[in-house]
Amino acid sequence: MAAPETTIWSMDRHTQAKHEILRRYLGAWIPILIHRCGRVRIIDGFAGPGEYEGGAIGSPLIALQTLLTHPAQKVQDAIRRGTVELIFIERDSQRSAHLQQLLVQQKRVKGDAPKLQPRIITGTFLEEMDKLLTLMERQNANGRPIPTFVFIDPFGYSHAPLSMIKRIMSLPMCEVLINFMYDEINRFLTVQYQTKEQHYDLLFGTDTWRQIALQSTNADERRRLQHDLYRHQLLAVGHARYVRSFRMRNEHNATDYYLFFGTNSIRGLEEMKRAMWGVDQTGGFEFSDFSNPFQPLLLTEPNYADLQRMLTENFKGQVVSVANIKEYVLAETPFVIFKQEALRPMELTSPPKIRVINPAPKRIKGRYPLDDMLIEFL
Ligand SMILES: C[S@@+](CC[C@H](N)C(=O)[O-])C[C@H]1O[C@@H](n2cnc3c(N)ncnc32)[C@H](O)[C@@H]1O
Repeated sequence: MAAPETTIWSMDRHTQAKHEILRRYLGAWIPILIHRCGRVRIIDGFAGPGEYEGGAIGSPLIALQTLLTHPAQKVQDAIRRGTVELIFIERDSQRSAHLQQLLVQQKRVKGDAPKLQPRIITGTFLEEMDKLLTLMERQNANGRPIPTFVFIDPFGYSHAPLSMIKRIMSLPMCEVLINFMYDEINRFLTVQYQTKEQHYDLLFGTDTWRQIALQSTNADERRRLQHDLYRHQLLAVGHARYVRSFRMRNEHNATDYYLFFGTNSIRGLEEMKRAMWGVDQTGGFEFSDFSNPFQPLLLTEPNYADLQRMLTENFKGQVVSVANIKEYVLAETPFVIFKQEALRPMELTSPPKIRVINPAPKRIKGRYPLDDMLIEFL
């Protein structure tokens, strides 16, 4: 899709799915962060005008509404205390003015304004995030880091260099959700990459993408290699401990974009995966986990036989704790839940495929309540 030039534009189905993920994730994760740290900050780095043609709301208003209508008392208390920050960055002055106007309208409709005043910054993500990061780095140095979620949702590929993501991820409790515009990147990579070399170097944080451009002519392979390179760079250079990616395919069966999520928190990863699994997929698009590029898992029908196979392949002959299994499932597979769905049938089958080494005296078979239970994969 070419970047629209009007102040607002019509929404595609993928955007709907992306918004649903955002809503679910923030709804689940923000109360946990507030519970742990008392404060939280959300930065929407490519905020847009706040609404689409027809009136559907955009990401900044989704974040705002999720917070204002959140049922958890601790979220409302944090808002009242002024410890929830919302920052929206938008380069286009007409779009940022439109967003500003929507926020004013919203305040008027809602009457008494709560103590949550989103800050709209008209400027580029690169420059503004640089300033914010300087502040965040100072807060961290003073022992007062604020958990921060950064949503990076550009139209193209030239505005969010890996070095910036590395700075974000180097701070404690910071995480990123990145819209990786594969379609755009691929188009230029194949046609006219020579004029864009510097952008690609910055995007990937390396120049090894050139090998993909030079050597790979097969579209599927190119997609996989680009995906893998970006993921690798987020992990190896970008300081993200966990990275998940999800593929959005459009109605012509072409990959439009990937959502990459980078976090250092296994709990954050769990909530994001739940959000992704939970998205309503009746919109006709394909939305798949991209753990295995040759066999992407459609997030509609979890097949737990696949998970059992993965567990066996990974742990065969080993004794591991339930906590280890959980980390593996969350970090390395598309799945979220595993106890009843995978471990239980593996224990109850004959002959069993797993054995509990240190069962509590009255343990019921097929239950794994404790993280330190030890499981042998036979
Ligand atoms: C895909 S749209 C964002 C949509 C929005 N996140 C949502 O989900 O509703 C990308 C936005 O980024 C803005 N933009 C483009 N380049 C930018 C930059 N360098 N810094 C900040 N904003 C930029 C565009 O004007 C556009 O409004």
